[in-house]
Amino acid sequence: MQIPDIIIAIDGYSSTGKSSFAKIVANEFSFTYLDSGALYRAVTFFAMENGFIDEECTIDVPELDKALAGLDVHFGKGGTYIGDRCIETEIRSLAVAGKVSPIATVPEVRNFVDKKLREFGQKRRIVMDGRDIGTTVFPDAELKIFMTASAEIRAERRAAEMRAKGEDVNIEDVKQNLLERDYIDSHRETSPLSKAEDAITLDNSDMTIEDQMVWLKEIMAERFGC
Ligand code: DC
Repeated sequence: MQIPDIIIAIDGYSSTGKSSFAKIVANEFSFTYLDSGALYRAVTFFAMENGFIDEECTIDVPELDKALAGLDVHFGKGGTYIGDRCIETEIRSLAVAGKVSPIATVPEVRNFVDKKLREFGQKRRIVMDGRDIGTTVFPDAELKIFMTASAEIRAERRAAEMRAKGEDVNIEDVKQNLLERDYIDSHRETSPLSKAEDAITLDNSDMTIEDQMVWLKEIMAERFGC
């Protein structure tokens, strides 16, 4: 049976495998995958390059807000772009990861990103991952999944990802960064990371990607008869 034009919102803590899972789900159902964290990372990279955030993470919000009006950030071949420049590698660095959570607390930044995400999601049939997709960006999403896993497993996964890209990382630094981001993401005033009331929890600490797909397919069959 044909899958209806639904939105699948996947939220959860950093490095719970949201994006890997979301990509596979999108591929399985021929939906479009949209990575909301990439937009926060892109804004962070933009702010760092243009001096709107300093080493102590002090943010010049009025100037950043003005500059966002002219920021052309979008997804293209190979990932995230600002104008015609692919910034996918840059936005995955530890330098950007270290500043993205403070940037994501700024309401002006959240408004900018939310607007883009809703534009990108207009046609539905999307899988979007982030922290507030089911609560704020698409509160009407038909399927909401909240992902979690133990901090140790998350740190190992993120470190392996970064090492595969040639970054020299220490597992304790990665874990520290994850825990800091969890804290900031869950305690900020605007759209904190939280589980939507109607979201289903997926703790994948001990699950392979295949296990997760079996889990999801059962839910899709129950809810949408497909
Ligand atoms: O998913 P990620 O690690 O690439 O996200 C990077 C940061 O962006 C994360 O620390 C919090 C922020 N973020 C957010 O506040 N809201 C979202 N919907 C997605 C990401």
